[in-house]
Amino acid sequence: MRALSDRLILEHVQTLGHEHPPIPLESVDYSVKDPVGMSRRFGRVLDFLARVELEVERNVLELLVLLPGVGEADRMFYADVWADQEIRHGVILDKLQNDIGRPPAEPDTTVSTGVRILGMLAHFPAIHDIIRLLYYLTGAATERQAVLAYNRLEAGLIEMDEQAIARTVIGQIKRQEPGHYAFYNMSATLMFQQGELRPWQVFLARQLRKLSFEPVGMYGDRTRQAEFGGVAIALGLDEDLARIARDVGRVEHSLLWASKNGMEVPPYILKAFEESVAAFRSGRSFAA
Ligand SMILES: [Fe+2]
Ligand SMILES: [Fe+2]
Repeated sequence: MRALSDRLILEHVQTLGHEHPPIPLESVDYSVKDPVGMSRRFGRVLDFLARVELEVERNVLELLVLLPGVGEADRMFYADVWADQEIRHGVILDKLQNDIGRPPAEPDTTVSTGVRILGMLAHFPAIHDIIRLLYYLTGAATERQAVLAYNRLEAGLIEMDEQAIARTVIGQIKRQEPGHYAFYNMSATLMFQQGELRPWQVFLARQLRKLSFEPVGMYGDRTRQAEFGGVAIALGLDEDLARIARDVGRVEHSLLWASKNGMEVPPYILKAFEESVAAFRSGRSFAA
């Protein structure tokens, strides 16, 4: 990767803002040929994605607590670019799921006590840096999961001949996700290139990642463990979880674990995905 700089990341964020305004609502064609078929095959996927996209509101509140000392590029990214794009994704998906006869999304936008406590510790600069790194790694993993999910969903909708939704809903949404991934990837990588982290901070980041990694949308709530599993199965992602885990964990693998011989993928990522799929299969599922 070419040498990064704060300037380069700021330019990336500014470009995202210019090139990817929130999807114009008038550009979306909600025509569905077979609402029943779409609901049966992808209903739970749409429910899940609408909820997670709308919960970005909670993510922004958490960021204000967790990262009181963010720099210009971070602030511009989450406040001026990312949140508006993601919430629009949620609004569009929520309307689509309503159109095909499913209940509206119920995003949870409360900030947990754990986050508030961590936020108090974030006033120590050394802790702030660790939290910032974890924020970037979580972001990269989340955006990768989004890209994989939207790719599969788009392919499935084309297969069902639901061209309008595939093109104007999912096609438009999925084009905005890689720019988010690139932001987190570059930001985490820059912290290492600039030598911002001491060995004990990297050590602590590894331990925290091992302890806290979970599939997107779970927020430490065990009752939600099966949701990602159900979505993965509906999209056929369960057939190749090892490859998915490697893809999702690529950034943290190269930054945190590359020096650990023989490790191809952080094992906690694959384990979290497998447990989620198993939880769904064993019937601890949310309503279809
Ligand atoms: Fe999104
Ligand atoms: Fe995104």
